[in-house]
Amino acid sequence: MDLATVHVRQLQVAEWSAFRQIRLRALADAPHAFGSTLAEARQRGERDWRALLLRRAQFLAAAADTAVGTVGVTGDGGALHLISMWVAPEARGTGVADLLLHAVLDHATVRGGDRIRLEVVEGNIAAERLYFRHGFRRTGVRGTVGGGDVRPEFEMVLDL
Ligand SMILES: CC(C)(COP(=O)(O)OP(=O)(O)OC[C@H]1O[C@@H](n2cnc3c(N)ncnc32)[C@H](O)[C@@H]1OP(=O)(O)O)[C@@H](O)C(=O)NCCC(=O)NCCS
Repeated sequence: MDLATVHVRQLQVAEWSAFRQIRLRALADAPHAFGSTLAEARQRGERDWRALLLRRAQFLAAAADTAVGTVGVTGDGGALHLISMWVAPEARGTGVADLLLHAVLDHATVRGGDRIRLEVVEGNIAAERLYFRHGFRRTGVRGTVGGGDVRPEFEMVLDL
């Protein structure tokens, strides 16, 4: 895949179906990386997907018309929260993850954020290395994924 053909844009609420499609793909591909499950996501209807897009900025990376990655960010000013980062297996190691992170950084700057925080499930080396390369550091705050999922996770933060 040629990175020059990849464009990142924010999904509009009317594009809830594209969000649903890539999120279901992410949850099927990498259940170890996320707090929510494919089964939960499959239960959501149009209204739920639209509501999610109203509460977050969700970015989609696409090469031509093919979706190859996504990331979300919530919050407005202060500390923003990076969530739901995923790059399609065939697009990993190409720089798509960097494009998605840059979209989040630009968004945070426009929104007047002073830091971006996120959680990584323990053992997700690729995710931790990606964030570390972009300046994120572990805060020392640890917890579990939550919602009955006791897998350990740790917090990382980037000061803007
Ligand atoms: C995490 C993810 C977005 C990273 O995307 P990517 O395209 O692989 O990112 P990069 O190519 O920049 O690779 C990130 C780093 O991990 C390393 N890496 C990649 N796969 C690895 C693996 N299986 N084991 C160890 N390290 C790995 C890369 O060498 C790179 O390290 P470096 O910066 O020190 O060179 C992608 O792997 C993914 O979607 N994973 C499943 C979902 C997920 O984990 N999301 C994050 C939730 S917090």
